[in-house]
Amino acid sequence: MMDVGRHPNINLYTYSEVEDVSGYIGNFKVKVRRKARYVDEDLCNACGECEKVCPVAVADEFQQGFSSRKAIYMPFPQAVPSVYILNDGDCLGNNPIACGKCADVCEKECIDFDMKDEIIELDVGAVIVATGMDVYDPTEMDEYGYTQYENVITSMEFERLISAGGPTEGHFIRPTDHKVPKRIAFIQCVGSRSHSEVGNPYCSNICCMNTVKDSLLLKDHYPDTEISVFYMDIRAFGKGFEDLYIRSKKAGVQYIRGLPGEIFEDPKTNDLKLIVEDTVANTVKDYDFDLVVLSVGVIPRRDSSAVQKLLTLSKTEDGFFMESHPKLKPVDAPTGGVFFAGCAEFPKDVKDSVTQASAAAARSEVLLNSDMINIEAITSECYTDLCTSCGICVNVCPFNAIRGADAKAGLKAEVIEAMCKGCGTCAAECNFDALAMKHFEDSQYISQIDASLEKNPMDTITVFACNWCSYAGADLAGLSRLQYPTTQRIIRTMCSGRVDSEFVLHAFEKGAPIVLVSGCHFADCHYIDANRWTQKRVEKLWDKLERLGIRPERLQLEWISAAEGQKWARTMKELEEMRKEVTKEEVEQTMKVLKEDREKAEAKKAKKKSKTVIPKTDKPDIGISPSA
Ligand code: FES
Repeated sequence: MMDVGRHPNINLYTYSEVEDVSGYIGNFKVKVRRKARYVDEDLCNACGECEKVCPVAVADEFQQGFSSRKAIYMPFPQAVPSVYILNDGDCLGNNPIACGKCADVCEKECIDFDMKDEIIELDVGAVIVATGMDVYDPTEMDEYGYTQYENVITSMEFERLISAGGPTEGHFIRPTDHKVPKRIAFIQCVGSRSHSEVGNPYCSNICCMNTVKDSLLLKDHYPDTEISVFYMDIRAFGKGFEDLYIRSKKAGVQYIRGLPGEIFEDPKTNDLKLIVEDTVANTVKDYDFDLVVLSVGVIPRRDSSAVQKLLTLSKTEDGFFMESHPKLKPVDAPTGGVFFAGCAEFPKDVKDSVTQASAAAARSEVLLNSDMINIEAITSECYTDLCTSCGICVNVCPFNAIRGADAKAGLKAEVIEAMCKGCGTCAAECNFDALAMKHFEDSQYISQIDASLEKNPMDTITVFACNWCSYAGADLAGLSRLQYPTTQRIIRTMCSGRVDSEFVLHAFEKGAPIVLVSGCHFADCHYIDANRWTQKRVEKLWDKLERLGIRPERLQLEWISAAEGQKWARTMKELEEMRKEVTKEEVEQTMKVLKEDREKAEAKKAKKKSKTVIPKTDKPDIGISPSA
């Protein structure tokens, strides 16, 4: 941090919050609120005289509430810049009757009670999200007694108690009697790898090695301490970690495979009794300890949704930010020009965080040193003369690449090409055909559908497959020489989000017995969550087909990944069985019903048109109605 603070090319804004981010890759505008710290950063030399006279005492957040701090304080000993800060919520104020003592003793006159927040605007080319993480709050796991017993503490609280800069200056004592505990238990996976209603299902990655390190620290400071670690598995897979684990065992730390079911306290001695099922010995035993440390897991920052909104990011199901691709672009956010470092993306230790931060810095450097950036060839474009400013495209775009579209302000949709990745969701969702994908226009898809159903449509399965997963899954099935029927006719879309309802209805109207829409599994879609719109669209289509008396089962939706060649082959076999059950009469009836429905919609549209003057458009006429 010191190096960062001193670096001539780095502007460090501490005690500041990003309020707004606009623009796009290479051209972001960031609005930052620099909060008033009521102490002049340039004048303060951290002499500490103000702190000495401040009469206020509140719980010190940094020391986990084990000690107090003043209203004017240094946030933590290594804070950069090394400058005091006045918390206006805690301060009694400058009124001489109330207080103002800090200002009186400050020889440098750096305390300014009238200081105001400052808003600054920055032009930046790239943004690195390094917002860190929070720790799991074990209050909901009441069987461990965290809310009831003072001698049950968390691993974060342990860190403060054993730290030389902590409230006890590194003398490890138990909270109730301030004596050095002789018997200490660590309970692993508190809030992690849980499949019950409380806690999180993922592994927090860092807790095992943190406990191994803590056990060695204790053995180093107090060699006679009896230490037991209760665990499910010890995950010591990093460089040198297995050695550390073995050292801890050799130092006498007991590792017991099993987690306590309950903890009870002896009210007289404040000692703790743990009831544990030892899953190796297959027995249930009681253990007595002076102190219990809950090795709490890592959770996403509690305020990460605000950052998500500012930068149009996505989250995975566990709540951490989603990277562009887990193997090929692990540092990049799907939003161009945004990168991740550290636990914002997933729990990781210091070494991995530094590695990812270096990678993010390098990725940003590449961007900043380019005179030009390559954008996708397949992007969306807006036919403004057809745009009604309804704003649907703005809502559905996973990349926030469409602006404007405000009927009140008379603004039409505008596609920011540098941000558009070409998923096609906007084109599929637009009810007025105002948005089109370059090189993948509706008319081109309609031609492909027509061609695929030109000969023997009854012997055909029409398949829409997304480029990145399902199409690759089909490829894998072929490369693996898997046997499956050859009746499928694949129409490739970049994303399943591009599959317009019109394409599906057109295929049925042309005589398709079965239609399959296929894409990546949720959270694997290469366009953030565009496939969620696919699902919604297909659900609407099922309703419509049912309304028209068409069996909805004839339209199938399957998520098939690039690695699921087997699933592709199996799905094709199942669809082939379904295809054989569809009769000629059923298909003809479907064609008739859909033709009538389309003609009705066209007549309605024409009637509406005759009442309105429609401006001329250069968009090619594809001969189908705009909306399902
Ligand atoms: Fe496959 Fe979006 S890229 S569904």
